[in-house]
Amino acid sequence: MRIDIITALPDLLKSPFQDSILHRAIEANIVEVYFHNLRDYTSDRYKNIDDYQFGGGSGMVMLIEPIDKCISKLKKERSYDEVIYMTPDGETLNQGIANQLSLKKNLIILCGHYKGVDQRVRDHFVTREISIGDYVLSGGELGAAVLCDAVIRLIPGVLGNETSALTDSFQDNLLAPPIYTRPRDYKGWKVPEILFSGNFPEIEKWREDQAYLRTKERRPDLLDN
Ligand code: ADE
Repeated sequence: MRIDIITALPDLLKSPFQDSILHRAIEANIVEVYFHNLRDYTSDRYKNIDDYQFGGGSGMVMLIEPIDKCISKLKKERSYDEVIYMTPDGETLNQGIANQLSLKKNLIILCGHYKGVDQRVRDHFVTREISIGDYVLSGGELGAAVLCDAVIRLIPGVLGNETSALTDSFQDNLLAPPIYTRPRDYKGWKVPEILFSGNFPEIEKWREDQAYLRTKERRPDLLDN
């Protein structure tokens, strides 16, 4: 998979890709991630990438021209499955969307800033709009990092244990069951006996029951789907 991230603040985005699982995925050539600084695509003398809103109103709007130049350059080099715009009024990211996107080959992610982008960018370039939740961030960069993390860890070969993404919360509309490790007894707080039974079908059943109970208690809405 290749991901091209278009941003006014590339430095804000880089560190999540320099550590842990995302870093390993890049090192293993399972995913390539490129950062494109919008200021490199402006013909403005002062490298401005935003301007005042037509019709008045507070907040600056990101110009269409640098975004067009950057996206058009990328599209000349290869075709893209999606041009994703990070925005609080997009569809809310969930595990299903992450699963879908993990199967794609080439993605562009556009990070908004200020009030957002000129609507014509959304009308003519963007194919999908994604929010990471019902709150407003200062820009799309942190959202893009969240989206990339959720997607990249699902690509086969990225996680050490192939099955571990399948047992994540939300994969089957259930939250994950409780997990334990050593010691077996810590200050009298004991690990459930069933986990030492060696009876793997029974352990699996216990985990399923626990996942169901936890979901019913914390996220009953998931059970309605
Ligand atoms: N940009 C600003 N707020 C955002 C959000 N909630 N999700 C994605 N991008 C954003």
